[in-house]
This record gives sequence, structure tokens and C-alpha cells, in this order.
Amino acid sequence: MLAVVAKSADPADPLAGLYVGDWPTPPTGGGLDGIDGGDDWTTVTVRAAALNQHDLWTLRGVGPGARRMPVVLGSDAAGVDKDGNEVIIHPVIGDPAAGHGDETLDPGRTLLGDEHDGTLAERVAVPRRNLVPKPAGLSFEQASCLPGAWLTAYRMLFARSGARPGDTVLVQGAGGGVSTALIALGSAAGYRIWVTGRSAERRERALRLGAEAVFPSGARLPERVDAVMETVGEATWAHSLRSVRPGGRVVVSGATTGAMPPADLAHVFFRQLTIVGSTLGTRDELLELAAFCTAHRLAPVVDRVLPLSRAREGFQALLDGSVFGKVVLTPPS
Ligand SMILES: NC(=O)c1ccc[n+]([C@@H]2O[C@H](COP(=O)([O-])OP(=O)(O)OC[C@H]3O[C@@H](n4cnc5c(N)ncnc54)[C@H](OP(=O)(O)O)[C@@H]3O)[C@@H](O)[C@H]2O)c1
Repeated sequence: MLAVVAKSADPADPLAGLYVGDWPTPPTGGGLDGIDGGDDWTTVTVRAAALNQHDLWTLRGVGPGARRMPVVLGSDAAGVDKDGNEVIIHPVIGDPAAGHGDETLDPGRTLLGDEHDGTLAERVAVPRRNLVPKPAGLSFEQASCLPGAWLTAYRMLFARSGARPGDTVLVQGAGGGVSTALIALGSAAGYRIWVTGRSAERRERALRLGAEAVFPSGARLPERVDAVMETVGEATWAHSLRSVRPGGRVVVSGATTGAMPPADLAHVFFRQLTIVGSTLGTRDELLELAAFCTAHRLAPVVDRVLPLSRAREGFQALLDGSVFGKVVLTPPS
């Protein structure tokens, strides 16, 4: 089958170790020998798979996927299971019981594309419990964005921020996969969504997505906000701490520009801020997200759809920062 594989890591040139070509197909019949869980696993024919910064981290040599190369990249996909059902794939492979009812807290959890081959392929093997019905109103391309960026945004806003409808929530970054999801989900849920963006064009698009107000990156806000959604990291961290009201929360799920900014502890304790980590979401939250999108007629923002064979071009766009929303790849049918 055709697959997109990380063969080696290079922090300075992540695309150097990218291979796009023929790769062994996961078995389809019976138990999947050689895969943890055997009969509890099944295969999905991938119809669309979204790219993530996670794939680039692996290609830079960061994370578990980098330790087991070669590995098929990709954690998000929509496709068709062996019974012909249209599904999306929950990317977290973990045991809820080991995480006090939350598989994202299982210390042994992994992500598709790390310990196990991922979704940037014609077919992927996954645990049966990770299959979730695809929302009928979404195309395969749109639905493939739900399990990663959109699930991360859903948990940040609705499980981790403590914010209520009517509260003001600042989203750092306008056009990221997670940012666009935060803007669309938050405005649909009745939050006042304020957004920082690096260009006038990206800020304008954030307004069209539902943001109430937009600001250049780092700009002083007219008032402090109840919560900040942070995925950018070092470039925006000081602004996030300055922008949240006393007693407010900063929810952090990513650090694209660096993970070690000055913590400014005096600011944290004096204003009694809460800093909350967040990672992906549970299978149940993915079901809730799918229902939320259906109820509010929301569809992920897809910047471009490329054939799987042109994966390198998609990753280059992600590296260039020119993407607004998600890049989606489609395998040959
Ligand atoms: N913990 C998890 O489960 C999880 C899940 C998904 C993603 N993540 C992480 O979250 C981060 C974002 O992911 P993504 O998919 O949204 O990435 P993305 O699509 O590449 O988006 C990058 C975002 O960062 C902003 N940005 C980049 N450099 C900036 C700078 N110097 N100053 C201000 N803003 C800057 C961009 O703002 P503009 O649009 O204004 O240019 C854009 O909104 C990544 O590090 C990813 O690994 C974590």
C-alpha cells in the first residue's frame, strides 16, 4: 500500500527522513498477529487523514514515534471499517481503567503513529474501541480533522478551562488547526472569543469564523480575559499571563515556538492564576464533539486537500506557517 513513513529524524531538516511510497499493508483477516491485543484490533480503509504538528515533531526526533522508526506517520483519520461503516478513529491507545476512567491519563497510553503505525496510509490497524461513527453531515476530509486538533480544542474549552458561556476566552493564534477549532467551537457555545493573529488577513478570517474581537499578536487587550487557550508557547506565553484576569486560567496544550518560556512565578501567585495542561481527549469526548458539530452545523476548516502521494508538499506548508486550518491527505481509492 501507499504510506507516509518517518524513516529517520533530523531536528534541523525534518523532511529529510520522510518517505512516501510502498509499505507493507496491515493484515485484514482474523486477529492481527503481532499487534498488541490481537483480536481486539481491526483495520480501517483510510479515506482521509489530517496532518498534525505531532508528525513533524516525530520527524525532528521528538517523542515515542521517533524512538521506533521506521513508523507510518499520522494520528487522525476518517475511513470505512471492515463492515462498511463510516468511522473516525480515536487516536489515543490507552486503558480508561488505568487512568481513573480517562484513557488520556493512562501512564501507558500511546498515540497512533507513535508505538503503532499511523493513519497516513491506505489502511491502518486500530483497537476496535477506537472506532467512532463519522458524523453524517461531514465529508471524510472534514471528519478526519475531528480526532486531533478539534478534540484537543473541545477538551481545552469544555473540560479544562472552567469558562462558562458568556465568559471571555482568548485564543492565541488565528489560523492553527487547534486555534480554528477553538474559535468555531467556543463561539458556537456562547463564549466571547478573542483572538490574536500574526497577519491582518488571518485575523479577518478568525472574525469570519466567529471571533468577537481580534488583535495583533502581543497587543494589549482592552480588558483581561477569563481564560487563555495557549498552543503557541514561548512566543505568546508572557502575553497569555498578562492577559488573564486575577484568578483566571491558562490552558496549555502545545508549545510550537518553544516549551521553556520564563514562568514569571510572581505573576502566577500574585494574580492567583491557574495553569492547566490538556492533551487530546477521551473517546467519550470525541463522541460529544461529533454530536456538538452536528447540532451546531460546524465543519472543520480545511485549508487544502492533497493526494497522499503529495504528503511532502503538505508538510512543507505546515512548516512554512502558511496553512489556515488543516491540511488533509487522501489515499488513492
Ligand atoms: N497536547 C495535544 O494533545 C495537542 C494536540 C494538537 C496539537 N498540539 C500542539 O499544539 C500546537 C499547535 O498545533 P496546531 O495543529 O494548531 O498547529 P498549527 O496548525 O501549525 O498552528 C500554529 C499556530 O501557532 C501560531 N503561531 C506560530 N508561531 C507563532 C508566533 N511566533 N507568534 C504567534 N503565533 C504563532 C499560528 O498563529 P497565526 O495563525 O496567527 O499565524 C497558528 O495559530 C503544536 O505544537 C502541536 O504539537 C497538541
